Amino acid sequence: MPAPSPSAGERPTPTILGVGAAVPDQLITNADLVARLDTSDEWIVRRTGIRERRHLRPTETLAELAARACTDAVIDAGCNAAGVDHLIIATITPDRLTPGLAPAVAARIGAAHAGVLDVNAACTGFLYGLDHAAALIESGRARHVLVCGAEALSRITDHEDRATAVLFGDGAGAVLVGPGATGRGIGSFVFGYDDTLADTLYAERDAPKLQMAGQQVYRHAVARMTEAAQELLARNGVEVEQVDYFVAHQANARIVTAVADALGVPHEKVSFNVEWTANTSAASIPLALAAAQRDGHLKPGSLVGMVAFGAGFVWAAGLASWKDT
Ligand code: UT7
Repeated sequence: MPAPSPSAGERPTPTILGVGAAVPDQLITNADLVARLDTSDEWIVRRTGIRERRHLRPTETLAELAARACTDAVIDAGCNAAGVDHLIIATITPDRLTPGLAPAVAARIGAAHAGVLDVNAACTGFLYGLDHAAALIESGRARHVLVCGAEALSRITDHEDRATAVLFGDGAGAVLVGPGATGRGIGSFVFGYDDTLADTLYAERDAPKLQMAGQQVYRHAVARMTEAAQELLARNGVEVEQVDYFVAHQANARIVTAVADALGVPHEKVSFNVEWTANTSAASIPLALAAAQRDGHLKPGSLVGMVAFGAGFVWAAGLASWKDT
């Protein structure tokens, strides 16, 4: 479907039209980890809020999981994958070093004419994809853009290290972005980075297991996400009370609580999906969005605030209206 050119003064307002999610069948509970590591359900829940996570089996591909999430998002939007102009996949764990995930996913869902691109911005990758999708639609270069966050973090986790083995999970979430009819659309985003602490959270190419100085990362995650969200609200002229639902990167329920409290967002408006997914990096925000819609927290016209922080350090915050059609 060729993208229409907007006439002067008539810029399309990008909005989220649909959402989808997929997690692997293989469930790993805290009890499963307690059976083979020096840890406890009490420690994991108290320090992280995590109760369970999903892991891909060795025979399963992340492309297949991402395709399920993308198909769900297209169906939820009432659209057709053949009309997708671009597919942007945020991931740090593609099935192969190259090619990226996007071509395999586009082929699986039938997005035959899509531009296909992988983005690596760690836990903030989905928000980068969303911002780029909004820009493509606003400019008239595209009409429908699929943005997917997909991760198989179990493949870069040291499963013998209790400090990290309990934290990470696999999953995929996606949104279809397209022109909205009314409302705010997808607002101006905030981005930031600081590479001076890159060694506190990383995985090497030749020994790809996530290493993290947890407490340092924790402190910076709270501070940077709080600042980014405050700047986001100011830049978009939005009061915190106007935000209907708030999704912070799902790494740790204590981090989410600290950021929400600093911003003054009541907890009933906040996602704690980490309980069921653990930390899924770039997939965490779209998985949380799908859960929020399923649970009735996001309705057409809702305004959702999103903020993420991860390796780099790299952080981002964005505002989007929900299904404003
Ligand atoms: O997605 C990118 C962003 N990532 C994040 O934002 C994660 C940020 N960091 C965190 O969420 C937290 O720092 C962790 C959940 C990783 C760790 O929680 P913490 O409260 O900072 O614990 P800690 O690392 O200070 O460890 C406290 C104690 C230590 O024992 P000692 O030295 O006090 O005796 C650890 O050895 O807990 C011990 N410990 C464990 N005990 C039982 C560490 N892991 C475990 C475990 N089970 N799984």
